Amino acid sequence: MPTVTIQPSGKTFEAAVGSTILAAIMAAGESILHKCEGKGECGSCHIFVQEGRKSVSKIQRAENEKLDTIPGVGSKSRLACQALLGEENITVELLGFGSGF
Ligand code: FES
Repeated sequence: MPTVTIQPSGKTFEAAVGSTILAAIMAAGESILHKCEGKGECGSCHIFVQEGRKSVSKIQRAENEKLDTIPGVGSKSRLACQALLGEENITVELLGFGSGF
C-alpha cells in the first residue's frame, strides 16, 4: 500500500492502490475542495504532486484540458479526483484554500 503524505499538514497515511487521491485524502479526514464531487469538472481539487508522480496514473485528456483553465498550474499539477494512486509513496501539496474556488 502506498503511503500518502499531505503538505502543508505533514499528515501521513496509507491508501489503496487504484483509489483516487481525492478519495484517499478524504478518507484520511483531511479537507480538500471537491465542488463537482469528483467529476473532473470544477478544478477545485487541484493539487501538486510533489513526490511520486511517476507512480500516479497518467493525465487523461479531459483532466489536462481542465488543468489548462486553472491559474497557477505547473508540471506537478493534478486533479485529485482524477489521479489514481499507484504502488509508490507520494507527497501531495493541497492548494485552493482561500483562493476563491
Ligand atoms: S472535484 Fe471537481 S475537478 Fe476534482
